[in-house]
Amino acid sequence: MSSDAIVLLKADHKEVKKVFRDFERAGDNQRLKGQLVKQMIELLTVHTYLENEVMYPEVRRLLPELEDDVLESYEEHHVADVLCTELYAMKPSDERFDAKTTVLMENVRHHIEEEEQEWFPKVREGLGRKQLVALGELMAERRKKAPRSPAQPSALKKSVDAVLK
Ligand SMILES: [Fe+2]
Ligand SMILES: [Fe+2]
Repeated sequence: MSSDAIVLLKADHKEVKKVFRDFERAGDNQRLKGQLVKQMIELLTVHTYLENEVMYPEVRRLLPELEDDVLESYEEHHVADVLCTELYAMKPSDERFDAKTTVLMENVRHHIEEEEQEWFPKVREGLGRKQLVALGELMAERRKKAPRSPAQPSALKKSVDAVLK
C-alpha cells in the first residue's frame, strides 16, 4: 500500500510525540530518560532530513506561494537541530539535560502543530493525491539512507543546506 507524503510525515509526528510523552512520564529514571532522548534524536534526525531534502524543496518548487512557510520551517528545524546536537553530547545526569529536552519538546510540538494544522492542508490542496503519492515514494526511498545521528556528515550537510539554500 503506498502512502502519500503527508500520511508518512504525520505517522512520524505521532511516533515522536509518543516518545515525548514517555519522557514526561519517566520521572527520575535517568537511564530510561537517556534512552528516550536517544530515540527522539534519531527520529527527529531522520524526519527533518526527509522534510529538508525532499518535502520542503519540492513544495517550494511546485507551490511558490508557500515559500514563507517553508522558510520559517527551515528555521524551526535549525533550532531543533542545534538542541539535538547539544543533547547528543550530554548525559542524563547533566544539570541541563531535562531542561534542554523540555525546550526541544516544546519547540517540536509547536512546529508539528503548525505543520499539521496550517501547512499540510494547504499542501494537500495545492498538490493533490497523485503528486503526494509520488513524493511519498521518493521519501520512502531516501529514508533508507537518511542520517540517524547528528554526528553523521549527511546530518550536518542537511543543517548547512537548510540555512544556506
Ligand atoms: Fe518540519
Ligand atoms: Fe514534520
